[in-house]
Amino acid sequence: MTTFAFPEARTCPYQPPEGYKALSEGPPLVRAELYDGATAWLVTRNADARRLLTDPRMSSERSADGFPIVTPRLLEARGFRTLVTMDGAEHQMYRRMLIPDFTMKRTRAMRPDVERIVDECVDRLLEKEKPVDLVQDFAAELSGMVIFHLLGVPLEDQELFTRRSAALLRAVTQEDSERALGELVSYLDDLVASREDDEGTWLLDRLAADEGTLSRGDLVRMAVQLLVTGQGTTAQMIALGAATLLEHPDQLEAMRADPSLVPGAVEELLRYLTIADMAGLRVATEDIELHGETIKAGDGVIMPYALLARDPSVYPDPDRFDIRRTGGQHFAFGMGPHNCLAQGLARLELEVTLRVLFSRVPTLRLAVALEELAVREAADMQGVYSLPVTW
Ligand code: HEM
Repeated sequence: MTTFAFPEARTCPYQPPEGYKALSEGPPLVRAELYDGATAWLVTRNADARRLLTDPRMSSERSADGFPIVTPRLLEARGFRTLVTMDGAEHQMYRRMLIPDFTMKRTRAMRPDVERIVDECVDRLLEKEKPVDLVQDFAAELSGMVIFHLLGVPLEDQELFTRRSAALLRAVTQEDSERALGELVSYLDDLVASREDDEGTWLLDRLAADEGTLSRGDLVRMAVQLLVTGQGTTAQMIALGAATLLEHPDQLEAMRADPSLVPGAVEELLRYLTIADMAGLRVATEDIELHGETIKAGDGVIMPYALLARDPSVYPDPDRFDIRRTGGQHFAFGMGPHNCLAQGLARLELEVTLRVLFSRVPTLRLAVALEELAVREAADMQGVYSLPVTW
């Protein structure tokens, strides 16, 4: 059986690694060799991943032996327990606590707030000296503001909070990232303590009142987790989404002329970019038979979400970006018990942002050639560190 060195570096800000093409045309199961010499199964077909991601014999427990640790950074973060790394009853307990804040009804009710935040961020963008970095000076700020609003961070603290969470997003070294995380945790800890007796409707107040099941530490961890999982992902989707549309001017024009195409454009961007390519990591807890092979208990399994979004049996001509595409099942938000809790909110943010940005800044364009941008490292989410734009 052939072995594939995983992960492979990307060369384009919005395309998966070049080796994915051969993988999607090759066998459905491949052995992956990781940076430390460990091996894992690599699943290359969309239908197999759909089955495995909903199979209770697959675990997300990162500290379990055999879990595919695809990067030294993941090894260091192994002990940081979040929803994404929990299984079974523990996972359900924490996830259930957050569900009321992400229902369709609650998300629909947030539309006016999201529209206001997007308009304010575009106002600030237009006041800045050009060129502007669309990642840090617009998208990260915007996605951060939406999460602060959801958490209930008071307006007067939002600027400070934005600076601290931006520092976390910018952090390149482990040391920078720990310092930025420490500052955020200390702010949130004070915030939770100051509101212990409040019965507000915001996420933090509601959780604090939740039968006292959560300690202050738990609450802070939950809030940090929402920021860590939600801010960078949404920011990259906004920035890369804008860049992809600018690189496909005919489709951008069609979307601008007919706003009813915006939701379809968002869905196609989610598929085409599938930025959380590295989120489909699991370890088998029992033997699983697949295509004549046995995935043994304790074997790591990698389902590269961006590869599965280019499966030609699900998406005809998968490398074509087409905002009118219908059908298919992408994994931009994962699938199964760990599917993204905030996918409705993320879709809403993308839809409002792309519509408002391109209608209020009709001459928006990239200030540098895409090829000049530094692409994020292989084991990170798909994305760029900065995206200079002008208008
Ligand atoms: C476009 C933006 C986003 C993308 C692409 C994205 C992607 C994902 C993916 C792929 C997963 C599944 C991980 C897995 O398979 O193990 C996930 C889980 C999660 N996401 Fe998102 N996400 C986005 C926005 C957000 C936002 C805005 C929030 C919060 C405000 C959020 C909160 C979460 C949480 C809490 C989980 C863990 C769910 C669980 O394990 O039960 N995400 N996200």
